[in-house]
Amino acid sequence: MDILYTLTDLRAYVRAHRQAGKTIAFVPTMGALHDGHVTLVREGLKRADICIPYIFLNPKQFAPTEDLASYPKTLDADLDKIRAVRASAVYVPSAANIYPEGFATSITVSGISEPLEGLCRPHFFQGVATIVAKMLIQCLPDIALFGEKDYQQLLVIKKLVADMDLPVTILGIPTVRDSRGLALSSRNVYLSAPEREIAVQMNVILKEMMKKSLGSVRIEEAEAWGLDALTNAGFDRVDYCVVRDAQTLHPVSPDTQTRRALAAAWIGTTRLIDNRGEHDVT
Ligand code: PAF
Repeated sequence: MDILYTLTDLRAYVRAHRQAGKTIAFVPTMGALHDGHVTLVREGLKRADICIPYIFLNPKQFAPTEDLASYPKTLDADLDKIRAVRASAVYVPSAANIYPEGFATSITVSGISEPLEGLCRPHFFQGVATIVAKMLIQCLPDIALFGEKDYQQLLVIKKLVADMDLPVTILGIPTVRDSRGLALSSRNVYLSAPEREIAVQMNVILKEMMKKSLGSVRIEEAEAWGLDALTNAGFDRVDYCVVRDAQTLHPVSPDTQTRRALAAAWIGTTRLIDNRGEHDVT
């Protein structure tokens, strides 16, 4: 497997494969890879001739109070996982190469980035949009794959790509879960065994809240039930627990075609997010 450290390496690799007529899939990651990331690489390899994951722990999407310093860093294990699925290359740029002294550009995708995560983590989507735009422009893949666990992020990236006419198709891949339904996340390593017991309740509660909202219960009541259920399950603080229009993330209206139940909540110092669609309960 080729390890590409610089933009020059990446461009040379992409150029050679383009000249050979190959299509290219790209999988953005911040490392600490788990089966969710591995699935994205596998799906990329099914849909394109080659798949290049990148590993870059993006400082711009963390607020100073967040867990950038303690975010798990497992580069050797990450490279082994990528090798094992037979990706032929991985891009591992340095922070100095990505954000050289004087880097001054940031991208804001207004609207879709504003509710939910945007309210709780105001810096987050600007950091994500900036790095994803930069990486897509660096690689110019045919497709890029993102997990649906970060559902709002997926919508923000689709909007970014549409608005900027970037010639890449963005694919959302269903969340990979453990045997009890806990969405895989690099941050799950922070959870103790008792905290994991609490964490697994989030997806159960989201499905139940979605079911209630599709039945005879008013959405506000379903959401109030969800909030109580998370608190009773042992979550220490709930940032949001809502049913929204799956396309716009606005409150559900008569124009809504499909709904999405989304939540973010804390167990101690660990923040978990998850979401479920109508298809998960019907
Ligand atoms: O979802 C993530 O891991 C990150 O937000 C992403 C898309 C790799 C950008 O840093």
